[in-house]
Amino acid sequence: MGEYTVVVTGASGSVYGMRLIEQLVLAGHNVSVCFTDAGREVTAFELGFELPTEDARVARVALAAFLELQDADQIRVAYAGDLFDPIASGSHRTDAMVVCPCTMGFVASVAHGLAANLPARAADVMLKERRLLVLVPRETPLSLVHLRNLTAVAEAGAVIVPAMPAFYQRPESIDDMVDFVVGKVLDVLDVENELFKRWRS
Ligand SMILES: Cc1cc2nc3c(=O)[nH]c(=O)nc-3n(C[C@H](O)[C@H](O)[C@H](O)COP(=O)(O)O)c2cc1C
Repeated sequence: MGEYTVVVTGASGSVYGMRLIEQLVLAGHNVSVCFTDAGREVTAFELGFELPTEDARVARVALAAFLELQDADQIRVAYAGDLFDPIASGSHRTDAMVVCPCTMGFVASVAHGLAANLPARAADVMLKERRLLVLVPRETPLSLVHLRNLTAVAEAGAVIVPAMPAFYQRPESIDDMVDFVVGKVLDVLDVENELFKRWRS
């Protein structure tokens, strides 16, 4: 059983992050989930899910219910303003952290080591501990600033998995397109999945 952190920021595509959390839990892993403030708002706007902000235990039950998971035991909700959370420290063992979807603002923060809130600090920790940090950026077009920041985080060791659905597997629905991106993230994490049809298999 692995220990993963999934951060949902305020980029469009919160469905990617939700599907990723669901798949990690179904694969038997524990997931620390953190929404940035913008991530919470965009998720509410795009998916209609409002994360409770008063009580992390209530929040994890609500999240598990939204994802139609049997129970909430494998989910832990961390709040972006809580710098005392375990994921803020390198002494807390985490197999990998995925920021999905990831704003260009978050990429900039990681590229410059700002660590000003819990998710940014947790990403900073992953880089300094040489652990797997996966960013799923979503923005178009990309400015030179975005491209330079993406280069900087890649040079620092992060893996960039852009939210770019492919079409060679002939998607029939939006779900298929979401699953392609989430499947590629799970591949990077080395988590078995059959979310998309592999080329010529
Ligand atoms: C509906 C909506 C969609 C957005 N989509 C994106 C996006 O795809 N990529 C991005 O970088 N920012 C996007 N933003 C802007 C970010 O949410 C904003 O820059 C925010 O400050 C990011 O904060 P965070 O990185 O802490 O989540 C979007 C905002 C809204 C309201």
